[in-house]
Amino acid sequence: KRVERAHNVADLRLLARSRLPRPIFDYIDGGADDEVSLRRNVTAFKDYELVPDVLNDVSDVRTETTIFGQPSRWPLMLSPTGLTRMFHGHAELAVARAAARHGLLYSLSTMGTTRLEDLAQAFARPKVFQIYIFKDRGLTAEFVARCREAGFHGLALTVDTPVAGNRERDRVSGLSLPPKLTLRSMFSFALHPSWSIPALTGSKFDLANVSHKVDALAAGPMSLFDYIGGQFDRSVSWRDVEWLAREWNGPLAIKGVMTPEDAHRSIASGATGVMISNHGGRQLDGAPAPIDQIAAVRDTVGDAPDVICDGGIRRGSDVVKALALGATACSIGRPYLYGLAAAGETGVDHLLTLMRQEFERTLMLAGINDIAALSRRHVRHRPRGSA
Ligand code: FNR
Repeated sequence: KRVERAHNVADLRLLARSRLPRPIFDYIDGGADDEVSLRRNVTAFKDYELVPDVLNDVSDVRTETTIFGQPSRWPLMLSPTGLTRMFHGHAELAVARAAARHGLLYSLSTMGTTRLEDLAQAFARPKVFQIYIFKDRGLTAEFVARCREAGFHGLALTVDTPVAGNRERDRVSGLSLPPKLTLRSMFSFALHPSWSIPALTGSKFDLANVSHKVDALAAGPMSLFDYIGGQFDRSVSWRDVEWLAREWNGPLAIKGVMTPEDAHRSIASGATGVMISNHGGRQLDGAPAPIDQIAAVRDTVGDAPDVICDGGIRRGSDVVKALALGATACSIGRPYLYGLAAAGETGVDHLLTLMRQEFERTLMLAGINDIAALSRRHVRHRPRGSA
């Protein structure tokens, strides 16, 4: 199989690009404005050197950890992504099954295309639901109740989206839901018939978790997307975090925190962790790379809270660097979407195998036999171009 000849995330990305019509690929791959943060998220990892220990007996390497209070085989989790069914017909279930096989936490997006109850039924492993504070607080409260009922273990509150980011690739491609045949994208869709024909039926793009809110859905998924987009509340504040923390009363991470000050405020407001994230460079362009913010955030919040580095992870060695700087774990979005688009569940499975192998190999080469032993002396910041 072609997917097995993919040796890394970059190979899977190329496979995804060849399998998907261009507007769909660009929706995954792109970022906001000039895509500075998108690129920096990735390259910032390369500015850290790994400083190895030797002769440390690495015949047995301990990688198990706890994220959102739940066991994870190694410190990686899967970030929430919307509209997943556009990338492969098996959508969230394929991703979640692969995550389960690898002993990892999965997170489902509010904008996902599988009902949270269905996901929970198919996926016994620890799982997180990504939630928003909507203008209609009742809608948020309803999600909290549904998540509790369905057995979700944690919530991730996304706070970097008071308005939608400016994704210019999507404007150029005229991406809409369901995808429409604009003149510009027609060739691309025509060149990918196996993808296009089922996708264009439209019903596949049901925003499954929110569709019950809009009875006038005859108007189609795009209007639902608009409706939910219109529900993003620009007035959301720390009081809402306090409210949500009380309402949920369980593991809660604030996703999109960038500074030590806001990390401190998150914990003081009742969250149990933060996801340092700029939404994969899709919201505020120019925001710092998550990897560069870890040390300061960890120093401020102390040992207990989850500090999850989300964005730009493309190698298992990136996870080692983030842990050495003080992260509890890393979280990935695009890498698993590339795998999904390339080959469905098999593709995600392959991606997770590759990253796991890279992670373990890096630990052994760095002389680390227990992730708990990783510390800041194992990394050195050295921007490229510096002597
Ligand atoms: C996202 N992300 C995202 N985040 C979120 O909180 N809710 C969402 O619905 C989505 N949807 C979404 C769709 C797509 C196609 C992408 C690529 C990303 C952001 C995601 O959770 C995560 O923060 C980034 O993907 C992390 O960066 P990397 O791993 O893609 O570099």
